[in-house]
Amino acid sequence: MNKQQAPDTFEPDIFVPVDRWTSPARDAAERDRLWPRTWQMVCREDRLGAVGSFVAHSIMDDPVLVIRTGEGPDDLSAIYNVCQHRGRRLVDRSHGMLGHEIPCRFHGWRFGWDGSLKSATNEEDWNGCSAFDKEALAIPQIRVGRWGGFVFVNLDPEAEPLESWIAPVAEALDPFHLEDCKPHFWARIEAPINWKVFVEAFNEAYHAGETHKLGIDYRPGVAPGAARGAHGMFWSEGGGLTSYRLRGANSWKTASTVQENLWANMAHQYDTLFALTLEPTMKAADRIKALPEGTSPEQVMDTFYAAVIEETEKTGAKFPRDLTLAAWKQAGTDWHIFPNMIILPSLDGALVYRAVPDEKDRDMCTVDIWSLGRYPADYAGPEAPSLFEGFEAFRGNNPFLEEDFDNMEAVNEGMKSRGFRGATFNPSQEAQIRHFHAMLDKFCGTP
Ligand code: FES
Ligand SMILES: [Fe+2]
Repeated sequence: MNKQQAPDTFEPDIFVPVDRWTSPARDAAERDRLWPRTWQMVCREDRLGAVGSFVAHSIMDDPVLVIRTGEGPDDLSAIYNVCQHRGRRLVDRSHGMLGHEIPCRFHGWRFGWDGSLKSATNEEDWNGCSAFDKEALAIPQIRVGRWGGFVFVNLDPEAEPLESWIAPVAEALDPFHLEDCKPHFWARIEAPINWKVFVEAFNEAYHAGETHKLGIDYRPGVAPGAARGAHGMFWSEGGGLTSYRLRGANSWKTASTVQENLWANMAHQYDTLFALTLEPTMKAADRIKALPEGTSPEQVMDTFYAAVIEETEKTGAKFPRDLTLAAWKQAGTDWHIFPNMIILPSLDGALVYRAVPDEKDRDMCTVDIWSLGRYPADYAGPEAPSLFEGFEAFRGNNPFLEEDFDNMEAVNEGMKSRGFRGATFNPSQEAQIRHFHAMLDKFCGTP
């Protein structure tokens, strides 16, 4: 990895006390000071295609609606999903189409897409009453922004604009043009863990050698991490030629060439993760596996890259020309967008996670997982997520991720023991999680 990716902050204090995960005071601080003040991803932009379409989302106790109001990409409105008469949640559905007036089904007040109060039932009853001011009775608007094909909202009118907040991530990931990608799969798991346990597990690869033993030996590699603005990232280093056991083989084999090594890594993702390596990259890896021994690593990579472009375009999809080999390498492996989103970019698209905390139960969160790929314009992808009640229900769907999930409930439980004092982070390969906690402290204070 080149020098530009050396950590831009150094956190010498690698110990984080357990109360950052377990104290009710911290839970309350997150509720009051973190979620209402940070940019939250609501959905993929293609969920808001037609004018009048909406997606509902909840940020702890605050239900929000994002509505497509016009044909322009920025014609989006975000409002609280709350009737201003007596506080009933305005729209009960999770997504769909809205008429120009949104009726409240309690007493029938009607609101516009911008939150304006259009009419109140028996409006004449308020005649002359100064407390009935239609302008003041509009539903408050919420800030909305777009990046990478995702729609974000922020409940804080004073918050930093999305553009500058996300800039360090955008700088690295914009060449991947995630806005042009579509979901290969989209899963939603009701996960019985605190949201931070989920985010942290996907914000490092220090665990890879011990946790992921299915088909690739990750032990020789390391994955140093760093802070990037409010966010964090890591990249992969070393590892050399890997050992692998793939596709029903009963013994491990060590790759003897760079091309075989690349193929094995891609094949493992393609077979067990169903993300990062999709059809075009797998076909390209199959092609370069046949390159003669002695082909230089540079030539292997150049041939591989050209093959990925060719295989992508063969499907009718576009391959972004600014996604060069250098841009791919520069982006690293994994990005954490503070506080609750993870993106792993790849030539075929990305693997994306979001953990949304449950407003009632600190040991529950809703996890969404998108495998994004490059597809022709007429491909729509799944319209709704596949739903799973807990990690066990998900079993059989993704062998790679199941290895990660196997740790999570055990961490969530183990942390609550009076025998655990706190986390001692690896100063190199978990620096980005240490930074996550520095950011949490900044927003929430210390318990
Ligand atoms: S609460 Fe919505 S109209 Fe009464
Ligand atoms: Fe993992």
